[in-house]
Amino acid sequence: MQSYKNKTALVTGASSGIGLAIANSLARRGAHLILTARSTDMLNKIATTIKKKGVKADVFTCDLSQTGAAQYLYEAIMHAGLEVDLLVNNAGYGRWGNFTEFDRKDYDQMIRLNITTPTELCHLFIPEMISRGSGGIINIGSITSFVPTPYAAVYAASKAYILHFSDALRYEYSDQGVRIMTICPGFTDTNFRTVAAVNINVDLGGAGTPAEEVAEQGLDAFLNGKVYVVTGKGNNIFTILPRLLTRKRVLNLIGNNFRKQLGR
Ligand SMILES: NC(=O)c1ccc[n+]([C@@H]2O[C@H](COP(=O)([O-])OP(=O)(O)OC[C@H]3O[C@@H](n4cnc5c(N)ncnc54)[C@H](OP(=O)(O)O)[C@@H]3O)[C@@H](O)[C@H]2O)c1
Repeated sequence: MQSYKNKTALVTGASSGIGLAIANSLARRGAHLILTARSTDMLNKIATTIKKKGVKADVFTCDLSQTGAAQYLYEAIMHAGLEVDLLVNNAGYGRWGNFTEFDRKDYDQMIRLNITTPTELCHLFIPEMISRGSGGIINIGSITSFVPTPYAAVYAASKAYILHFSDALRYEYSDQGVRIMTICPGFTDTNFRTVAAVNINVDLGGAGTPAEEVAEQGLDAFLNGKVYVVTGKGNNIFTILPRLLTRKRVLNLIGNNFRKQLGR
């Protein structure tokens, strides 16, 4: 894929934050959009704005943390006669706090949203991309894809899965015209923090990278054939730490810092 012009992109979690920024940037670059998330009204408003840029925008409301969500979404898209050239697996959330503070149902939903649904969407859409001889997948990881993260144990592990999964698929399908890449954002200005910090009563302060910057950097990196891209100033350190320090030291460094930040 040399450009996004006239390609059709399915973006999950397109109603806010990084997903919305990616959808807007893709539209500016001439791509047609298939938008999905749970907030129908929000998605419809976004689709109306996007269509003013002269591209198509279709909305499919779906709770992607439910069993069978990927299959449901795939069938709805097929039924509408749409083809997906680029799949952006972006929808996701995290929780900050001790592991046992959150119940198993919450983790079950997180794992389905962050791992199961992206995996199933890749499984559903890759065969069609292969048959057309071209296609792309951008999965959203995190800087936590590179380091175990105490107080965000399940979330960080889900993002480690995404990075390893994407890398492996990239190798398997690169000679069949399907390019797969991971965007690994650091702290970004979105609703993510509010959702993750639901049990935290401290002001974590600081402004994150604008979602628009993450989207631009990520979409450019994909066209440039990168395997992954880390966004946000100084965040490449998370890729370097595990190569410089022992696993024990990395764990203590990340754990001690995050524990202090959370006021634990
Ligand atoms: N912000 C950061 O600092 C940061 C850092 C690293 C990685 N990330 C990753 O970036 C991705 C996007 O997050 P964000 O920062 O943009 O956060 P956000 O503003 O909270 O956006 C999350 C998106 O996911 C959708 N979503 C949540 N639960 C869903 C569900 N059950 N079914 C379908 N859609 C669902 C939300 O839409 P609805 O509520 O309408 O469903 C929303 O569009 C996530 O994978 C996150 O892990 C974020």
